[in-house]
Amino acid sequence: MKHENPPLEATISAEATVLVVDDIPKNIQVVGAVLAASGYDVMVANSGAEALLRVEVQKPDLILLDLMMPEMNGVEVCQRLKSDERFSDIPVIFLTASTEISNLQECFDAGAVDYVTKPFNAAELKARVRTHLELKFAQDQLREYSAKLQSLHNEKNEFMSIAAHDLRSPLSNIYSSARIILTEPQMKRVEVEEFLTMITSTSEHLMKIVQDLLDFNAIDQGRVKIDLLPCNLSTTAESLVASYRTKAAAKKQNLHFECASAEVCVLADESRLLQCLDNLVSNAVKYTPHGKNIWVRVLNDAVAPRFEVQDEGPGLTEEDKQRLFGRFARLSAQPTGGESSTGLGLSIVKKIIEVQQGRVGCESVLGTGSTFYVTLPSAS
Ligand SMILES: Nc1ncnc2c1ncn2[C@@H]1O[C@H](COP(=O)(O)OP(=O)(O)OP(=O)(O)O)[C@@H](O)[C@H]1O
Ligand SMILES: [Mg+2]
Repeated sequence: MKHENPPLEATISAEATVLVVDDIPKNIQVVGAVLAASGYDVMVANSGAEALLRVEVQKPDLILLDLMMPEMNGVEVCQRLKSDERFSDIPVIFLTASTEISNLQECFDAGAVDYVTKPFNAAELKARVRTHLELKFAQDQLREYSAKLQSLHNEKNEFMSIAAHDLRSPLSNIYSSARIILTEPQMKRVEVEEFLTMITSTSEHLMKIVQDLLDFNAIDQGRVKIDLLPCNLSTTAESLVASYRTKAAAKKQNLHFECASAEVCVLADESRLLQCLDNLVSNAVKYTPHGKNIWVRVLNDAVAPRFEVQDEGPGLTEEDKQRLFGRFARLSAQPTGGESSTGLGLSIVKKIIEVQQGRVGCESVLGTGSTFYVTLPSAS
């Protein structure tokens, strides 16, 4: 978690708003002038009732409240503020005449944090206001960080439980197969090989999940090194399509490649880019039924060239579209040739492309097909 908030000092003088409540205009003038000279925004109210109305319109960061006022005195105003959860966190400093010191207990009982005696000493007034504003901002920041931490903690927990769930089933398959080989010494070589093949492919699947999880976390924490260099999107896409010809042919899919020009240059990290484009083509082949078409295109653009994969697969529901780039998003579409699906690929694609100042998206019509695209800054 990055703490990018400005230093407390800067926040306080630049943004703090102080409400001064006093029935004597002269006092408001004196206090207001001292505060304004320190750079605070000053709001004023001439009575308790007016103060309660003012806070409804704009919530101040601190209130200087006169104790003795006709009709509604400071203690009552303070009690009302403290009993309203919208305003209870505003620090209240009482303005009291030295003859009113005996009333201080009542002020603190009502929720005051401090008091300043009249006639005012400017240095004292400024110091007390500043101290309580600093405290208030520190408390606000703490609350904010603690809420952020809580939500990160919840996210991590959810992540752990899905990951553990995903790892358990392949692991238990490996365990059972190994147990069978161990406990049946008479087993024929050909049967042993069958189990070993299963163990090998399931282990590969497990390794991919773990690698994807590590990748996702590394990107999330900014630990992935991205080297942005000009690279030729056309040749990268062409060789990628070539590497999928056998898989597509096995599913009798027609894999087309259309390229605007032999040289469409983008600014990207080539191996990371390939990892992303690979997932888009792999998805099209994985989720498109046998015998359908898939088009891979490279489109030129002076600012942001585009790579896209259009398929005649099942398309996406509205709910799918909402969850598409999230972690462990296994959606309505199921692999059409028994391929594995962890639902991590697109979440990684989105992170990696965005780190490279690119964009990723999808246009899809349910029942007709989908077009996934990536745009990247041109290197020309
Ligand atoms: N071209 C597509 N057409 C229809 N649905 C798709 C398409 N591509 C992805 N999906 C849906 O989005 C989900 C998430 O895709 P993603 O690539 O993130 O994960 P995956 O393919 O399941 O697993 P992997 O982590 O191995 O990539 C898929 O499970 C699938 O349901
Ligand atoms: Mg995928």
